[in-house]
Amino acid sequence: MDNILAPSILAADVMRLGKQVCEVSEAGAKYLHIDVMDGTFVPSLSYGVCVVESIRKSCDMVLDVHLMIVEPARYIEAFAKAGADIITVHLEACADAEETIAQIHRFGCRAGLSIKPGTPVEEIGRYLGQIDLLLVMSVEPGFGGQKFFPESIERIRTARHMIGQEGRDIDLEVDGGITQENVREVLRAGANVIVAGSAVFRDPGPASRTFMKILREEQER
Ligand code: DX5
Ligand code: ZN
Repeated sequence: MDNILAPSILAADVMRLGKQVCEVSEAGAKYLHIDVMDGTFVPSLSYGVCVVESIRKSCDMVLDVHLMIVEPARYIEAFAKAGADIITVHLEACADAEETIAQIHRFGCRAGLSIKPGTPVEEIGRYLGQIDLLLVMSVEPGFGGQKFFPESIERIRTARHMIGQEGRDIDLEVDGGITQENVREVLRAGANVIVAGSAVFRDPGPASRTFMKILREEQER
């Protein structure tokens, strides 16, 4: 599977969002990661449907919407209609994850399922026949700029092994604390979609180009 960079706009400068999104796209980032937070599933508030809708109008990247909200089933239709390509929900936030994933597919989107650092990776096993993307959080969700949890490496390896056993093409995305220094280790553990917020948006063009160079090098290894 291709290695993909998914810059998280949580760390972008809102006043220059359009320009910064163009910069990461021109550098070769394929997914744009959009973090939606409700102040309940995670302590922070971020943004909602209208931000996705507005970005969709002038951006042809794959919109990768990460819902950190309680009972996300309530909002699948709205995010799908706003133009999301991938909708990822948290296993911990769903009353019925199977039905929520089915609902994401019914609205024509790719379905992602995410787990927080404290949730055993094995709990994702029963959904592997159904999902298109597995998101392993490598920090507690809710804030950008945190330090990568080193124990995530083993969790990524386990997840990649389980995906291999399942025999389906499932993106393995990792989110939280990824830098130009630790990204190789994350890729070598089995991740193929790299979310990076602060490490990209402090200098969007040059930082994305460096990430893309590393992603290509690791792909060819
Ligand atoms: C955190 C979000 C992340 C965040 C990552 O809850 O899900 O996507 O933007 O930011 P960095 O890369 O700065 O850790
Ligand atoms: Zn995220």
